[in-house]
Amino acid sequence: MLALDVTADGAPDAVLGAAREALGSLDILVNNAGNVRAGRLEDCAVEDVRAMVDLNLTAPILLTRAALPALRVAAQERTSVIVNVASGIALVGLPFYATYAATKTGIAAFGHALRRELHGSGLHVATVYPGATATAMMDTSTAGEDLGFGRRAVYEVVTDIVDALGRDEHEINTSLPTRRAMQELHARDPLAVDAALAPRLQELELAVRHHRSI
Ligand SMILES: NC(=O)c1ccc[n+]([C@@H]2O[C@H](COP(=O)([O-])OP(=O)(O)OC[C@H]3O[C@@H](n4cnc5c(N)ncnc54)[C@H](OP(=O)(O)O)[C@@H]3O)[C@@H](O)[C@H]2O)c1
Repeated sequence: MLALDVTADGAPDAVLGAAREALGSLDILVNNAGNVRAGRLEDCAVEDVRAMVDLNLTAPILLTRAALPALRVAAQERTSVIVNVASGIALVGLPFYATYAATKTGIAAFGHALRRELHGSGLHVATVYPGATATAMMDTSTAGEDLGFGRRAVYEVVTDIVDALGRDEHEINTSLPTRRAMQELHARDPLAVDAALAPRLQELELAVRHHRSI
């Protein structure tokens, strides 16, 4: 096991070196590490904005870049996969999460573009869109089911993801039905989502004002 800050200089090479030493070859990369800081954008410290971009977007891009040569070699023998953990927020941007939403939409778009770039290589890119999940990340949020943040248990979400990967799915959404409906509405009529959220904006702001994992 290697414990390190994946945003640190040299981290991608260190991770790849340790993986090669321990495993010999590499046929899966899971970009899972992430952080969040909620609140009005003007109240978010510059360091928190940078921390989200560094960990949720720059680090997985650089890790993927470093891992691609080894993954391409493995893909010649068996299906290999890059799994990017985005968020349901990539499918509907939610208020008080502007920077987090930007990073998660960014990593989702990165995965789509890369998947097309890798067409025919045997190397797949899957994007996971978890809805709210009961992990330490959510400990500081009091937003619950009534505000669309009903939480699923980790084992359920992980089971869904592993099953979907087993079926070769590339877009894996583990959101609960209420949030999924909002994502679909956003795709059809984004301003209808604004209208639906508006009456409870203050309530949502209060519930997420201390939500942070940085
Ligand atoms: N929980 C949710 O509701 C939810 C919803 C949508 C998407 N997601 C996404 O799912 C992924 C996992 O989140 P989670 O809920 O498990 O969050 P979490 O409980 O806060 O865990 C975060 C994980 O990231 C690691 N990490 C944080 N900073 C790191 C760094 N600089 N370098 C290396 N590792 C670092 C942590 O390692 P240590 O434990 O060693 O610090 C921990 O394993 C994230 O990308 C998150 O954005 C979560």
